[in-house]
Amino acid sequence: MATKPKKIETPVVAVLNMKGGVGKTTISAHVFRHLYSHLKKRVLLVDFDPQFNLTQAIMPQLSYEKHKAAGRTILSVMEDSSAPSIFKVNSNLGPPPGLDSVAVRLRHFKNNSPDLLLVPGDFDMVKYSMIGDGKILEPVKARFLQFIENSRADRDLICIDCNPSSSFMTICALQAATHVVVPVRPDRYSILGLKMLNRFISEVPQITKKPELIVLLNGIKPSGYDPAVENALRSDPEFGPITLAKSLKISKVLEATVGYTGFATDKEGQAWRVTPNISAIVDELGVALGLT
Ligand SMILES: Nc1ncnc2c1ncn2[C@@H]1O[C@H](COP(=O)(O)OP(=O)(O)OP(=O)(O)O)[C@@H](O)[C@H]1O
Ligand SMILES: [Mg+2]
Repeated sequence: MATKPKKIETPVVAVLNMKGGVGKTTISAHVFRHLYSHLKKRVLLVDFDPQFNLTQAIMPQLSYEKHKAAGRTILSVMEDSSAPSIFKVNSNLGPPPGLDSVAVRLRHFKNNSPDLLLVPGDFDMVKYSMIGDGKILEPVKARFLQFIENSRADRDLICIDCNPSSSFMTICALQAATHVVVPVRPDRYSILGLKMLNRFISEVPQITKKPELIVLLNGIKPSGYDPAVENALRSDPEFGPITLAKSLKISKVLEATVGYTGFATDKEGQAWRVTPNISAIVDELGVALGLT
């Protein structure tokens, strides 16, 4: 059984890039899931994007509907179920719920520990990108931060799959995070997204404890790959040293499809195509996060 040495503070990792479609959800699902099975860590995945692609990728729709009806989604972390409507915020919030009442257990080893939990996403979170007055949302943020802090006691790692916009939710995730894993595709625009995120983190006054950035290249072609952009990134004095040596390759097994719900490393007959690559990334990430 993998128990957490008491001294190690549980890392809270926001998977974030201002650029959309760079692989935040793919990495949250398939790389962070593997931290649970390969490194035997108690991982909590938090779907923090109103599009809730992470939940859709790994949880069958019928299960999701059941959990949503029972209030087991991220929305119950932000506000309690007495929230008046999807356009209003509850102004009288109590303490956050316990992890047990909102998280869904996806996997566990024989003796139940370590296990893999998910706080499912919720489209209703979209209201937080439509409310302009930040003051109204302060208690919601405080409740979320308290939930993450409380959950650290029970987990070895918390991974927050973020949405791509610079919104209230981004600030919540960055204030909770000890680390930010930034997926970057080997193209100019994803690298610009990395630079924007870095500026955002250093200039936004609410983020007093700056999380540590870790860059993970995603979408490396198996053949005919032009490494020019990767080489520029790796030789950059600021970003080169924080870029993981291992990159996530493009693979059909990682592609989100309607035909498969679940984790790539569980995919029967095909997992072998991606598992060695993901294991190598997880080994490196485990060291970078102080988990091994
Ligand atoms: N390494 C990969 N191999 C194959 N397909 C990939 C890989 N990484 C990402 N994809 C595909 O690219 C698309 C975008 O990836 P993903 O949804 O993970 O990005 P995202 O950053 O979470 O997007 P968003 O900004 O919308 O949240 C998806 O269809 C996904 O399946
Ligand atoms: Mg996503």
